[in-house]
Amino acid sequence: MSLLSTPFDPARDTAVVTGAGNGIGRAIALALVGEGVRTVLADVSEERVSAAVKAAARPELALPWVGDLSSLESCDALLGTAVAAFGQVTHFVHSASPPRREADHALAVDRTTWQEMHAVNLDAGFHLSREIAKRLIAAKQPGSFLFLTSLHAGTPRNLPHYSTAKAAMAMLVKELAKTYGRYNIRVNALVPGAIAAGGFIADPSLARHIPLGRLGEADDLAPMALAVLSNKLSAYVTGAAFVVDGGLSLTNWFEPPELEG
Ligand SMILES: NC(=O)c1ccc[n+]([C@@H]2O[C@H](COP(=O)([O-])OP(=O)(O)OC[C@H]3O[C@@H](n4cnc5c(N)ncnc54)[C@H](O)[C@@H]3O)[C@@H](O)[C@H]2O)c1
Repeated sequence: MSLLSTPFDPARDTAVVTGAGNGIGRAIALALVGEGVRTVLADVSEERVSAAVKAAARPELALPWVGDLSSLESCDALLGTAVAAFGQVTHFVHSASPPRREADHALAVDRTTWQEMHAVNLDAGFHLSREIAKRLIAAKQPGSFLFLTSLHAGTPRNLPHYSTAKAAMAMLVKELAKTYGRYNIRVNALVPGAIAAGGFIADPSLARHIPLGRLGEADDLAPMALAVLSNKLSAYVTGAAFVVDGGLSLTNWFEPPELEG
């Protein structure tokens, strides 16, 4: 039997993906649907989420949900919709994040922008994952959660509201993995590099700092996301951070060596 052919159990597995209207969240949600996983695509933008559902290989497995996840009431409404439509939620992907604006440096970022960044990335991620975990624990079922963090959880981005939210999220992954492991609920981080996916307006010249020679695309993240989410492929993986960056994080003040030929 092939080890890789059936990473999910469509009869049992169901997913909630936040930020599924665009970029990396959309790519992961569509990939899950492609594997036969019933998936709620959650986003604040109705237009984006409808377009994503239309693009799904099997739209009957993709349920749109529109709401602002900076409010915990909205998070509860999302879970209510997911449970009513699909029953137990077994897989959770947290990709939603407010837009990043270069003008929001340390001397400029306002309180609302700061709070919204933390509310969506951290508060919603914690609340949604805990509520899903409580249900799984009560039903004695395994689960798998994936948080989109960033290389800027560990290095500055000139956007302190963003880097601090991602740093906190990276620690949240470890806290949850340690606490939920005994219930067979795995929690991991996916760490994108420079992905031209909507949330990051990339300067193409950045490619020269990337060992694999190009910026990333949202679809570069989906296969790794599925591998980590799959209880079959990653049953013994929790509390880990998977960097998908074409080698960008290897860049430092030393240029790569000059090579002959
Ligand atoms: N693109 C990159 O280079 C990159 C690098 C590192 C980390 N990341 C992380 O990966 C994730 C996805 O990035 P992306 O570039 O695909 O982002 P994106 O901006 O393309 O997509 C984010 C989605 O989240 C939604 N969203 C924003 N605020 C919301 C809210 N309050 N409630 C519900 N939905 C909301 C947006 O509408 C959007 O569709 C983010 O968490 C981001 O921080 C991205």
